[in-house]
Amino acid sequence: MRTNNSDKYFQQAKDVMVGGVNSPVRSFRAVGGNPIVMKYGRGSKLYDYDNNEFTDYCLSWGALVLGHAPRNAILAAKKTAEKGISFGVTTREEIDLARFIVDHVPSIDLIRFVNSGTEATMSAIRLARGFTNKEMLIKFDGCYHGHFDDLLAKAGSGVAQLKESSSLGIPQSHIQNTISLPYNNVEILEKTITQFKDRIACVIIEPVAGNMGVIPANMEFLRALRELTKKNNIVLIFDEVMTGFRTHAGCVQTEMNIIPDITCLGKIIGGGFPVGAYGGRKDIMECLAPLGGVYQAGTFAGNPVVMKTGLATLKFLNKNFYRILNQKSEELANTINTYFKEHNIEAHLSYYRSMMSIRFRQEAVLNYDDAQKAAGAERYTKLFHHLLKAGIYWPPADLEAFFISSMHTRKDLDKLILTLKTFFK
Ligand SMILES: Cc1ncc(COP(=O)(O)O)c(C=O)c1O
Repeated sequence: MRTNNSDKYFQQAKDVMVGGVNSPVRSFRAVGGNPIVMKYGRGSKLYDYDNNEFTDYCLSWGALVLGHAPRNAILAAKKTAEKGISFGVTTREEIDLARFIVDHVPSIDLIRFVNSGTEATMSAIRLARGFTNKEMLIKFDGCYHGHFDDLLAKAGSGVAQLKESSSLGIPQSHIQNTISLPYNNVEILEKTITQFKDRIACVIIEPVAGNMGVIPANMEFLRALRELTKKNNIVLIFDEVMTGFRTHAGCVQTEMNIIPDITCLGKIIGGGFPVGAYGGRKDIMECLAPLGGVYQAGTFAGNPVVMKTGLATLKFLNKNFYRILNQKSEELANTINTYFKEHNIEAHLSYYRSMMSIRFRQEAVLNYDDAQKAAGAERYTKLFHHLLKAGIYWPPADLEAFFISSMHTRKDLDKLILTLKTFFK
């Protein structure tokens, strides 16, 4: 595979941007080699500056459920931009997208748009703290909710001892109110809430974790979480930044029939543009300024080009769309998993509909501890480069999810199956 031009541009990138990237996971640090500098995308494909074609399973980290450059989204963006790109005032475009989301996502009575998933979770937590007048928060080991200081408490840090953050530059005071618990463990959750209920403002969770590979929360755990939070005046926040509109127009909460108090969204709802949103119960949302005392604001929040493109995307996602996408994805995962089983290969795909990840063991993965044990490290690096050479672009890090879009054809998926088979042989 020729990478001369990519290598040249990446060198230029390193001269002017930190590590050559604007987000660390893009840097290929986890898998080695230089990142491929991409030129354009169409449907399921990405094209680089050396004329290589890749079937893209990273899809802008899950944002592109319709694949690259869908016509309806491009047209919406162009038409809206021609009228002016940003106004910093209320527009019809944001009302329309807000209405669509409020009508489809059961937990959301009122919504606030922001510019990224990080902003959404950060603001949702501030709101929960303002609403409950409490300070502590519970998150789960291995869940990622963006790079907000208070959420970068290291997995496994105990409640009582000095806490460790997973980044430099985070004062103790920012994580001393954060408790990180194992995912899918009802007993520990119950014990912790019972002990700290008067101090816990909120619990934030990915109802299907997508940042320690893909792990759907089990229903018993989610039901207990909903019950315990309700009983103890704790705001339950579902981070559906990744899962929102990926598998169902009502998001995962509709499929699982567990309704949180606040939902965070991002990725898909912007149609590929930068976006985030948080919304929830009316009485909680009304604590936000200008109605209430919790402050949060944004110059570009609700940008009309983003809103219109997001709506053009969401309008495409009807029942039939999800039926086909989910079925196609499940067939892919079943085929691969059957192959692994029949050949006694120590691997499986863990997945939730069109969100997937590879695990280097056969047993199920239920939490971050399992995810680390099933991580591939060197094996993933080899697999990643094997796929890349075959023209298949997977996320350049082991515990990141990969995604299927509506533009992935049978031929694309068959090629993935075949390439995986040759690797594991
Ligand atoms: C579940 C989840 N929440 C929050 C975020 C942060 O979103 P953003 O990268 O838009 O800030 C991500 C990003 O991948 C995510 O997967």
